[in-house]
Amino acid sequence: MALKFDTRYPSIDDLRTRAQKKIPKFAFEYLDGGCNEDVNLIRNTSELREVQLKPNYLRQHHGSSLKTKLFGIDYDAPFGIAPVGLQGLMWPNSPEILAKAAFEHNIPFILSTVTTTSIERASELTEGKAWFQLYHPAEDRLRDDIIKRAEAAECPVLVILCDVPTFGFRPRDIRNGLAMPPKMTLNNILQVLGKPHWAMQTLKYGQPNFETLKPYMPKGLDLKQLGKFMDQTFSGRLNEEKIKPIRDMWKGKLVLKGVASEYDTEEAIRLGLDGIIVSNHGGRQLDAGQSTIKPLSTIAEKYGDQIEVMMDSGVRSGPDVARAMASGAKFTFMGRSFMYGVSALGKKGGNHTISLLKTELQQVMEQLCCEKTSDFPNHLIK
Ligand SMILES: Cc1cc2nc3c(=O)[nH]c(=O)nc-3n(C[C@H](O)[C@H](O)[C@H](O)COP(=O)(O)O)c2cc1C
Repeated sequence: MALKFDTRYPSIDDLRTRAQKKIPKFAFEYLDGGCNEDVNLIRNTSELREVQLKPNYLRQHHGSSLKTKLFGIDYDAPFGIAPVGLQGLMWPNSPEILAKAAFEHNIPFILSTVTTTSIERASELTEGKAWFQLYHPAEDRLRDDIIKRAEAAECPVLVILCDVPTFGFRPRDIRNGLAMPPKMTLNNILQVLGKPHWAMQTLKYGQPNFETLKPYMPKGLDLKQLGKFMDQTFSGRLNEEKIKPIRDMWKGKLVLKGVASEYDTEEAIRLGLDGIIVSNHGGRQLDAGQSTIKPLSTIAEKYGDQIEVMMDSGVRSGPDVARAMASGAKFTFMGRSFMYGVSALGKKGGNHTISLLKTELQQVMEQLCCEKTSDFPNHLIK
């Protein structure tokens, strides 16, 4: 097997270890941590890995293909890059690196409202293939303007979020003074000095900014004023009243992310959404919640023929993607895995991580004798 990635890092865990060495502690902890005591963060991966799959070694095999159709679009693999805020803080230029790699590998890249490149730039890098995740603006005027920009950028899918009625309670970020936005304390500055490559890259690309939001932000805000701007600009809790006008305006596919219950799935169907991402934000919002694999199986079985059911949170390998798909997900997303890749390997990190996951998933499919990604559920041991 010809391996198309750097063989020094053949797992997401290797990338995580290297990322930890390369970037300042406050940035690594922002990326790596969950909320409260990390219970749900840990459960996401450990309970996903309890899913077991059955191979059929003697069955005729005509080759396995990762190609997967979603919303009428043919993708080269059944996984994509989840929206992550403040990406440029973990590694300068990282949303651009990931958007480009996603385009080259023909997988979806979802741009966060609060990341460090703009809708227009992500669209340019992906020739209009990037999806956009909208944090719900408090003002209708701002909401309409951002949606119009996403439409003008030919974004095929708009993702709205239901799992951020409040910001997550994350002790590490509180300790590091890394609320939204980051604060440069003396301790944080000392951490930067210990990571010269990161510091040089940050100098080269400049301080990360919320590029999509720049046109709406008064110039020259200090950090405290910026925090206030964010609080005033976004209203966290989503409801029917907020979803309906978006559904009316947005002609493309509309996806609700952060679903963890049958109730929210039924609401999404009733309000005319095209898909849901069963997700707990990577264990960053509700530590007392379930791991995503638990509601995924029930939701996919009950509602999978009425709405596209996708999943994220805890996926760290090709076998994990296979486990999620066998449990009913039509498509999976990963946040940290890709950010570990870029934080570890810089501009090579996007291609490396996608190639690694593709190689692992191809191996699982051939091992199972699974020819199409839609056949994964046939291999689930119930
Ligand atoms: C550092 C970080 C920042 C995130 N920022 C956002 C965001 O701005 N918008 C969003 O919809 N989800 C955000 N998420 C959640 C991811 O989209 C995704 O649900 C989560 O990372 C999946 O879990 P995983 O990291 O275990 O793959 C963030 C996740 C992380 C780790």
